[in-house]
Amino acid sequence: MAQKGKLSTEAYKGVRDFYPEDEAVQKYLFATMRGAVEKFGYAEYHASILEPAELYRGKTSEEIVSEQTYTFVDRGEREVTLRPEMTPTIARMVAAKRRELSFPLRWYSIPNVFRYERPQRGRLREHWQLNVDLFGSASPSADAEIIAVAHAVMKAFGASESDFEIRIGSRAFLNALAEKAGLSSEKREQLLRLLDRRAKISAEEFEKGLAALGVPPEAFSAPAAPDDVRSLVAALQDLGIGNARFDAGIVRGFEYYTGTVFEVYDTRPENNRSLFGGGRYDNLLQLFGEEPVPAAGFGMGDVTMRDFLSVRGRIPPYAPPTKAYLAVTSAELVPEAMRLAAELRAHGVNAAVDLGDRKLGDQIKNADRQRIPYLIVVGEDELRSGEFAVRTLATRAEATLSRTELGSFFLNLP
Ligand code: HAM
Repeated sequence: MAQKGKLSTEAYKGVRDFYPEDEAVQKYLFATMRGAVEKFGYAEYHASILEPAELYRGKTSEEIVSEQTYTFVDRGEREVTLRPEMTPTIARMVAAKRRELSFPLRWYSIPNVFRYERPQRGRLREHWQLNVDLFGSASPSADAEIIAVAHAVMKAFGASESDFEIRIGSRAFLNALAEKAGLSSEKREQLLRLLDRRAKISAEEFEKGLAALGVPPEAFSAPAAPDDVRSLVAALQDLGIGNARFDAGIVRGFEYYTGTVFEVYDTRPENNRSLFGGGRYDNLLQLFGEEPVPAAGFGMGDVTMRDFLSVRGRIPPYAPPTKAYLAVTSAELVPEAMRLAAELRAHGVNAAVDLGDRKLGDQIKNADRQRIPYLIVVGEDELRSGEFAVRTLATRAEATLSRTELGSFFLNLP
């Protein structure tokens, strides 16, 4: 009976349900990221979604903290925030074990993070974010390595250098500019926020903002690359990376960045936006009363990465984990089918058994719809003779095999 006021089946606004086909894409994304990052010697860590709200206040990004965090008071009157990013968490973890850890330290994670944003293309309220961070080195080689890892992840997704561009900015450059214009630290923060919002506002609004701060617009029209960026681009070229360049407008919205910062842009016009970014942040550990530990890293979101692959038709087709589906000619044969399935599993074959509630034709349709590649019919005749037909559902080709041959048949498949 239909109920009045029944519950909606929609997911909460701006978050996604991952049905198996969607989850398979996530698994592909994460496996590709892990593979690329571990090649550079990074080890995976993890942490809780929940953090004390004070971890973010006044230390990260004003916009995120005051407008985008999910914060609540728990039953013990503690203010708790669902992490909007991973950087404060990793800084906390490194600070907590600073004396036991050895540096340089290379860590990565793929956490889900939450931001109360207006859902739109490339922006949701929950996303997964590959975080790659290198602690304990102020050397420009660390900045170069972080960008090299980002480049390698893109390559692992099949991207060529013409598919994306690495735009590098510099906080030192920005600070020098602010000093030249005589900006107070408050005005410097305003300039940073204005630059960070540049892509979201009109050119007119941007110039008005600059004028209000007394910064000449020429400061952002093709200035020469500052020394730190110039040597970074050269170091990247040495590593065979040719698609990085200086962009004075790249600042990144977080207050903790201290040196070079970068954003990776998709070059496709229909997807021309920042895919991900990062930079150097040398002082974050001071929040925990620790000596500063120089650090650099980046965060790459799954949503923008999926869009990048999807406009290029590069999302791999779905293949379920199940290899074989065992259909039965009558419900009484289910225990026999389960025995056969157990034999297959012992050979490492993922096998599912129909439960005999539907007609054979419908059982086969079910396997086909789930895109399970192979079907085995278990009937009286097959059990008596010990010979089973393995049907390839996509081509309808059949091979007849004895019970003992079945396991090795699957093992020898491509
Ligand atoms: P972020 O630029 O705020 O940096 O986020 C990094 C990436 O996460 C973005 O470039 C984008 O790919 C993705 N992202 C951010 N917000 C959303 C959203 N609402 N929906 C979908 N994707 C999103 C950071 O979070 C820094 N903590 C990164 C970092 C790590 N810096 C150093 N280490």
